Amino acid sequence: MNYNLRFLILDFRFLIVGISLFILINCSQTKTESANKFTNYYRQGEQLYTKNCSNCHQPNGSGLGRVYPPINQSDYMQENFEQVLCLIRNGTQGGLTVNGTHYNQAMPGVPSLTDIEIAQIATYIYNTWSHQRGIVEVTEASRILKQCE
Ligand code: HEC
Repeated sequence: MNYNLRFLILDFRFLIVGISLFILINCSQTKTESANKFTNYYRQGEQLYTKNCSNCHQPNGSGLGRVYPPINQSDYMQENFEQVLCLIRNGTQGGLTVNGTHYNQAMPGVPSLTDIEIAQIATYIYNTWSHQRGIVEVTEASRILKQCE
């Protein structure tokens, strides 16, 4: 084989290996970054939950009898993601049904919570106990919170 051609083919192989390595390293970096972000949101969310919510819904999310509905297992949460973000900020009243039980007791909102804090609380409650939704991004939370009634 012509020397130049052989060199070219070799060169091409190095290029492919180089590109593959680059892609591999980049991918794993983005993965760690998003895992860090999730952990960060989750930890902040847990603290905010303890401070603002656990009095009523309890640290283990079980709620309290017929007064405070459970959030550790809740079909309401599964079916009403957007309303849940809104009720964290604005509270809710008028009653709702969770897992077949009707609750009717006003929940006070926490209007001082920022969009990112609500995203963090949502990331915590939607990835603890029986829930596995994944991170709730602040961009998603903001979009929903703007539309609360
Ligand atoms: C003073 C007690 C109280 C506090 C504090 C409170 N809640 Fe509630 N929460 C309630 C009540 C009562 C309801 C049911 C409202 C109704 O009957 O209309 C409710 C409903 C809910 C629901 C929907 C029903 C369900 O069980 O899935 C979610 C989710 C929820 N709360 C999450 C939170 C989160 C997150 C916080 C903290 C930011 C919080 N709550 C703080 C009392 C409370």
